[in-house]
Order: sequence, then structure tokens, then C-alpha cells
Amino acid sequence: MAQVRQISPFRYPGGKTWLVPVAREWLTLAGRPSILLEPFAGGGVIGLTAAAEGLADHVVMVELDEDVAAVWHVVLEGSDRDAAELCDLITDFEVTLDNVRAVIDASPPNSVAKAFRTIVKNRCQRGGILAPGAGLVKTGENGRGLASRWYPATLAKRIEATRGFKDRVSFVQGDGFEAIKKYEGAAMFVDPPYTAGGKRAGSRLYLHNEIDHAHLFELVAEYAGAALLTYDDAPEVRELADKHGFLVGNVAMKSTHHAVMRELTIFKD
Ligand SMILES: C[S@@+](CC[C@H](N)C(=O)[O-])C[C@H]1O[C@@H](n2cnc3c(N)ncnc32)[C@H](O)[C@@H]1O
Repeated sequence: MAQVRQISPFRYPGGKTWLVPVAREWLTLAGRPSILLEPFAGGGVIGLTAAAEGLADHVVMVELDEDVAAVWHVVLEGSDRDAAELCDLITDFEVTLDNVRAVIDASPPNSVAKAFRTIVKNRCQRGGILAPGAGLVKTGENGRGLASRWYPATLAKRIEATRGFKDRVSFVQGDGFEAIKKYEGAAMFVDPPYTAGGKRAGSRLYLHNEIDHAHLFELVAEYAGAALLTYDDAPEVRELADKHGFLVGNVAMKSTHHAVMRELTIFKD
């Protein structure tokens, strides 16, 4: 697999860093579209990569979750001052159990504090899970385990790097289904919450996880220009792809637990 530069400040459950080489090739073959829509953005790896590398003229990222949106609002749409304040909060934070609990339990007074709280949750909750009920990473000796995924300088660098190409990215907090209709003709990278067979259902990973997949395929068929969808390999998904004449590929990837898993890549011309 080609080298992939980590670009997102999130470590996202279901994040698609492993798919970057495929998405690069897809966007190049699609002729570097003028608009790439990512209607279920999450950690936004593919959209950010496309914007950073000029694989699309403009990227629109859409996400419903307000905690996730808080980060993208500051990083992509916020003032330089707010972005710098977020980076300062990250670099000045001392990761102790008490401090982490205090941030997570507090009601943030403004948008920067809310973005910071999301980043603390994403780094310190097990699996990067932001949905309610997620536990903390095992705290280990003297709470040191908590700091195991807190790389403040790296996070600040990724945020600053993203600010460098933010003019080529728009972020919208909203419904991906509506966005697909609104951006008719755009290229679309579609990675909705889904886990084959309902086990480890998206509900554990994401607050917003109820998706009508049949309807989603219909909208993509009707409104997308070129599209790339990713799904767990499941008969239901293959049937939907067949029904709309989409091309189905199969990518082997390693899960965080090093089990080989199969994910489908589904293409609409
Ligand atoms: C599989 S994750 C996307 C991961 C992303 N591709 C990445 O690399 O980080 C799916 C995302 O869709 C979001 N979501 C769920 N329902 C949505 C909706 N109706 N509109 C927009 N986003 C939604 C979830 O909050 C979650 O962040």
C-alpha cells in the first residue's frame, strides 16, 4: 500500500485512511472533479486528502454529529484566532484522569471549547468512540494509559496544515441525504454508518446511525456524478449495488486488532 500521510485530527472509528490510495486513483480517473461531496464526513480523511492534493477543485464535507461538527467548524470555517486558541488548548493540556474527566463532563462555554472537548473525547475514549456511553481508554499506571493517544504537537500540526488548504473545503453540519440532492452532479464519496449483520451495530460507534441504505443507494444513483461508496461486505449491500448497476470491488484491510476484514468498494461511473 502506498504511503499515506495522516491528515485528520480525528482517530475515527471506521476511519478510511486505508482507502486513501483507492480514492486517489478513483478521483484521478474521474478527471479531478470540480466538486467532491463527502456526505458522511466523520474524520473526513478522504475529503481532506482530496483537497490537500488537488484531487478535486472543491470539497464539501457534511456531518450530522454536533460534537464532530464543532471541530470542523473551528478548523475549516473558524477565524485564525479561534484555530490558534484550539491549538493552544491542545498543546497546554495536561492529560490526567481528573483533567480529562473535567473536560468531558463540562458544558463548553463556546465553540472552541466544544471542539476541544470533542478532541479530548476522541483521543481519550476507547476506540476514539464519541457516542454516549463510551468508556475511557484503560488508564494504566498513574493514569498514564490515557496519554497514550495524546500527541499534542502532531494534532496542532495537522490542524495548521488543514488551515493551509481550507479555502478548498466547505463544512456543513447537516443531513447527508439532503446534501446528496443539493449537490446533484458532484462526485461523491459515501461512507455511511454500517456494520454487516447488525453486529457491533453502528449504534455503539456513532450517535447518528439509523440509515435507510436502500434509499441512500437510490439517491446516489439519481444524483451523484461519479461515486465511491464503502461498506462492510454483506449480501444486502451487494444486492443494492447490483440493483443499481454499480461496480463492486473488494479490499482487504486490517482492523485495529489485526484481523483481516473485507470491505466493499462500490463505484458508480
Ligand atoms: C463511517 S463514519 C465516516 C468515517 C469517515 N469516512 C472517516 O474516514 O473518518 C459515518 C459518519 O456518518 C455520520 N452520520 C450518520 N448519519 C448521518 C446523516 N444522516 N448525515 C450526515 N452524517 C451522518 C456519523 O456521525 C459518522 O460520523
